[in-house]
Amino acid sequence: MLLGTQRVNAQGHLEIGGCDTVALAQEFGTPLYVVDEAAIRANCRAYVAAFAAHYPKNEIYYASKAFLTMALARVIAEEGLCMDVASLGELYVALQAGFPPDRLALHGNNKSRAELEAAVDARIKHIMVDNFFELELLGEVLRERRAEIDVLVRTAPGVDPKTHKLIRTGQADTKFGFNIADGSALAAVKCTLKTPGMRFRGIHCHIGSQLLEAETHEQAAEILARLIQTIVAETGAPVERLNIGGGLGVRYLSHHEPPSYEAFAERITTALKTILDNAGLPYPVLEQEPGRALVGEAGTTLYTIGAIKTVPVDEAGATRTYAAIDGGMSDNPRPQLYEAVYECLLANRADTPADATITIAGKHCETDILIWDARLAPPRSGDLLAVQTTGAYNHAMASNYNRFLRPAVVFVQEGQADLVVARETLPDLLRQERIPPRLGGG
Ligand code: LLP
Repeated sequence: MLLGTQRVNAQGHLEIGGCDTVALAQEFGTPLYVVDEAAIRANCRAYVAAFAAHYPKNEIYYASKAFLTMALARVIAEEGLCMDVASLGELYVALQAGFPPDRLALHGNNKSRAELEAAVDARIKHIMVDNFFELELLGEVLRERRAEIDVLVRTAPGVDPKTHKLIRTGQADTKFGFNIADGSALAAVKCTLKTPGMRFRGIHCHIGSQLLEAETHEQAAEILARLIQTIVAETGAPVERLNIGGGLGVRYLSHHEPPSYEAFAERITTALKTILDNAGLPYPVLEQEPGRALVGEAGTTLYTIGAIKTVPVDEAGATRTYAAIDGGMSDNPRPQLYEAVYECLLANRADTPADATITIAGKHCETDILIWDARLAPPRSGDLLAVQTTGAYNHAMASNYNRFLRPAVVFVQEGQADLVVARETLPDLLRQERIPPRLGGG
């Protein structure tokens, strides 16, 4: 499986964005997050084009939780997309990168006063309100500042997407949004309509992540289209925007087949238009928040293989071979959290047939197995391992567990590699630490 601009060059090395990964590892060290900038740009354009072909008014908000650095924010801004931020930190990074505030939307199921104030003060485009506590808090912030802001009401449509249970959010039993079936969503809309400063613009749902079929999105679009009907009938307020969240999956394994952007666009917009047409309602702006779909396949993590050991696994003589890498759960916690699966290849011998079954182990004091049964060319210590599809929720979820240093991030394009996040250093680990005087500190 070669993704984006990946190819194998004449030396048998994996190349990304025209850069030889062996040279990248030498220059920047490992583990290294390599980001295929052209692939991200191509995804942004294709996603926008797919929906433009099926629906008249679209706005795509890249879900920055998947991967956010200032350089990435610049790329998203250049591509003309909007962006979803879900914390004070994400908002800060976006604004520091010069991302246009009027293309930002704020999310969160427990937004703090500081987050709401920062969003209002920055004059972002809109806030997705999630609960009644937030409605009161935001009402207060707006009153104090005599400010106004557009809001969308986040709903829980009560659908059941097929994905890992920790990344399902569309079902009724969720911490996110206002339940539709019990009337909370409609009550929330009415509340926004009578709160001074809140300009009700529409409704939102996000049903889950890494979905490999469009069916649940289609169901959610139908439920939300019916809610639009109810809102218009009960309040007379127009519903100008409908946001159906993110969630389209990517290829972690060669046999994964997420719907194409075109197929996805067709299914969702057809369901939506049918209901709106039957109800004689105007089409709202269709907003979406893809994260993984835009960046997931554009990321590759390079590791150096160190220790290799073969251990007996049963009486019959079966064995397992572990190849240990110089990273693991601190740079990619997804296998532990979501039983996530990955494919990999030897980047320095990418043309050697992958005829061995190898277990890729991290180097943390945990059983941090990154891939249980990877098909790989027989590895040797010192080989360079490339793990595919690490562009989403890897750098974003990295930690300093075992006091590891978080890896560097490089953007590659047209043969050029730009460092956009420097590797952490040992002194970085102590930056926030203090030894109190009673323990001999200064
Ligand atoms: N919109 C909202 C409100 C979200 O909560 C999310 C993801 C997205 C959009 C983007 O979803 P995507 O298109 O990336 O599927 N850490 C997990 C995924 C958590 C998703 C959180 N919300 C993982 O590594 O699989």
